[in-house]
Amino acid sequence: MTDVSATRLSNRIALITGGARGQGAAHGLRLGSEGAIVYLADVLDEDGETTAAELRAKGLDATYLHLDVSSADDWQAVRDRIQNDHGRLDILVNNAGIVKVTTIEEETLEAWNRTIGINLTGAFLGLHTMIPLLRVGSNSAVVNTSSIFGPSGAVGYAAYGSSKSGMLGLTRTAALELADDGIRVNALVPGGVATPINANEKSGGVIPETPLGRRADVSELAAAVAFLVSDDASFITGTELVVDGGFRTR
Ligand SMILES: NC(=O)c1ccc[n+]([C@@H]2O[C@H](COP(=O)([O-])OP(=O)(O)OC[C@H]3O[C@@H](n4cnc5c(N)ncnc54)[C@H](O)[C@@H]3O)[C@@H](O)[C@H]2O)c1
Repeated sequence: MTDVSATRLSNRIALITGGARGQGAAHGLRLGSEGAIVYLADVLDEDGETTAAELRAKGLDATYLHLDVSSADDWQAVRDRIQNDHGRLDILVNNAGIVKVTTIEEETLEAWNRTIGINLTGAFLGLHTMIPLLRVGSNSAVVNTSSIFGPSGAVGYAAYGSSKSGMLGLTRTAALELADDGIRVNALVPGGVATPINANEKSGGVIPETPLGRRADVSELAAAVAFLVSDDASFITGTELVVDGGFRTR
């Protein structure tokens, strides 16, 4: 991570789903380093507690909360907790996601629904539940994590790609519905990123199609998220920030 100012996100309350590891943990580190009070939420409770403790050991304000993003009840509990702690939310990063690679012919309805339920419905529930607290927040901002497999097709990624295309549609509509409240909503569109989600990918995943010839480091996505949720992006809403090493230029 490049040197960052500890003030750009000073005292902003941030909730990051899928925050136990990977990009979500990196977002927590970056936003916390810029002064935010960070909540990491995930289903991986042990990893999440460890990650939050690591951030606290760096002097950051970080708390882990259990949240299955596909559960409306879990969202309500997280909302109650943040309401009690701070009475507002300034930053929501809908980052949690899963991948199961299979053809449409081989896909099961259960697996399809699980991918859509976590990747897309999870973000809907996040917005739906947190809008009242985001309204209380100041200059509030939401980032929804899509993927290059949203706007681009990829064999074996029907459910995943559909969920990530859906994130773009959700982002645009949310941006329109929340503009009058001063809440900005944007999508992050990562290319290949070195995280556990693609640890078992064969042939380096999208590296051969990526002009920069590598996967991103998580810190490169975190820098983009920090920009999008900061006041430096105050006139940016309803759009997509593509961080893909040039994948989509092909
Ligand atoms: N790594 C890549 O190449 C890549 C590329 C494009 C988009 N993305 C997206 O970036 C986001 C972050 O993924 P990552 O790369 O850090 O992978 P990751 O697997 O390290 O992180 C995903 C996190 O989401 C959590 N999660 C899964 N199901 C959940 C649920 N029901 N409720 C709460 N949390 C849940 C996981 O436990 C994990 O901590 C995902 O939405 C992913 O689809 C990743």
